Amino acid sequence: MRLELYKAVDKTPNMKDYDSVYESFQWEDTFDHFSWSKTGQYNMAYECIDKHVEEGYGEHVALKYRDKNVEASYTFKDIMIESNKAANIFRNQADVTKGDRVFIFMNRSPELYFALFGILKLGAIAGPLFEAFMEKAVTDRLENSEAKVVITTNELLNRIPHNKLPNLEKIIVIDDEVNASNDVLDYYEYYDSADETFDIEWLKKDDGLILHYTSGSTGQPKGVLHVQQAMVQHYITGKYVLDLKEDDVFWCTADPGWVTGTSYGIFAPWLNRVTNVVFGGRFSPEAWYETLEKYDVTVWYSAPTAFRMLMNAGDELVHHYDLSSVRHILSVGEPLNPEVIKWGNNVFKKRIHDTWWMTETGAHMICNYPSMDIRAGSMGKPVPGIQAAIIDHQGNELGPNQMGNLAIKKGWPSMMHTIWNNEAKYNSYFVDDTWYISGDSAYKDEDGYYWFQGRVDDVIMTAGERVGPFEVESKLVEHPKVAEAGVIGKPDPIRGEIIKAFIALRDGYETSDELKEEIRVFVKEGLAAHAAPREIEFKDKLPKTRSGKIMRRVLKSWELDLPTGDLSTIDDD
Ligand code: WT7
Repeated sequence: MRLELYKAVDKTPNMKDYDSVYESFQWEDTFDHFSWSKTGQYNMAYECIDKHVEEGYGEHVALKYRDKNVEASYTFKDIMIESNKAANIFRNQADVTKGDRVFIFMNRSPELYFALFGILKLGAIAGPLFEAFMEKAVTDRLENSEAKVVITTNELLNRIPHNKLPNLEKIIVIDDEVNASNDVLDYYEYYDSADETFDIEWLKKDDGLILHYTSGSTGQPKGVLHVQQAMVQHYITGKYVLDLKEDDVFWCTADPGWVTGTSYGIFAPWLNRVTNVVFGGRFSPEAWYETLEKYDVTVWYSAPTAFRMLMNAGDELVHHYDLSSVRHILSVGEPLNPEVIKWGNNVFKKRIHDTWWMTETGAHMICNYPSMDIRAGSMGKPVPGIQAAIIDHQGNELGPNQMGNLAIKKGWPSMMHTIWNNEAKYNSYFVDDTWYISGDSAYKDEDGYYWFQGRVDDVIMTAGERVGPFEVESKLVEHPKVAEAGVIGKPDPIRGEIIKAFIALRDGYETSDELKEEIRVFVKEGLAAHAAPREIEFKDKLPKTRSGKIMRRVLKSWELDLPTGDLSTIDDD
């Protein structure tokens, strides 16, 4: 059975020859695929779900869900009906309308996906929040976006400080035994009587779709808004890069709280009408291999951190599973080490394909394609339709093998539309209104392959998650014993980087291991587990500029045992 399925999926790549497709491709070439090319009306939920039902694929399995308690399978028709019910409940009970920000703060479950499409069918903007966020992280995001409604579960409900959020009108809890009140609604109280049909709100191409918060090196997380037309790129990269085809079973391991978990955990697979696997449990090598085997996954998208953890679990374990269904493996989020590619080759007999992009870019930018020779360590080449370059500080393009800032020519379909409530921040990404500046340093070789070198700024990538040092520092100094804190990424063989905090205590407090633990827990419980420093080092004082800014660069030099340079010449900023 398994082998039959494997054979059923055509192994010829969707993009047979990168160079010729790249030369001739226009975004417009994809428009015929979408219903809006005829109607002029957009809605992502329609293109992902309802359209397939109307075209006769209602019984095709859309979602295979599994966690430690539940295993379930849903067809496109099931999701259509469930999301219609959700949309009706959100409209009738919480008055959700076009353009409202509606957040989903839930751990992975089938209902999360139904709720998300319910929000989109109303023309509202969905804001996914990672389940590990604690009160401060949740508050900052709901406040900044002026969210009207949050969809959540009993467990996460107490992290939403309702009284501090004047714009938040309703909280809808999708769970058993909900303690409902005026503002806190029990989803299932309205579920049975909710209509199974819903008239989709039709939108324009620039209308809001999804709002993902992401970190920079300074300031609070910023809300990156993507709009409906992003679907053009989700669809075509799903086809060319993920190589999705009829009968594929696709598994993206990312949580929908992050952009990978929506662009490629939801939109790309369902625009391409494939079966999408969601694993809701905690990571374990056994559970992951089991998921690949059990669902005959054919295309698998994950991250270097996860691959390194699997690698550490040993090659022997892999041989207990039949993973012969897997046809194509991809990676995103951090540099994909050549030794991981080598390991993939050994154990899966497949090369892992790296992909590069960012929350702000909304979809793949620079990738390795199934039809292309992979150069281990390189991120690959631009997606058709994308023009990339390496530029210097003035915006001049640099030649081959010269290091500079990786930039993308402005105007691709999934480009962020704005930074919520922060036009200046949005504008700061662009040079001469021509280039989008990624903040990653890289170079391009003679053959057009791009090679990642590092971040230009202080942003930390830990276990594939982007953490802004400022957000962690702000939380640290809220601790009553902490006077000053500086946070850096410290290289780590498994996680890429770990968060390390340098801390100066207020007068009168003694350093101790217990205090380190207390501070760690303070961040973990106040902000998010993944943002808590794994290492803490106490210092009498921290290096600062004359204007009082902590010099993370110096902290990094301390950590890596590099010369700190002449501190007196460091800029005042
Ligand atoms: C940053 C973006 C949307 C992808 C998930 C992370 C780093 C991403 C790669 C890669 C080296 C990578 C960059 C980028 N990054 N992919 N293939 N090789 N680095 O999205 O949280 O917005 O972070 O992740 O530094 O700027 P994000």
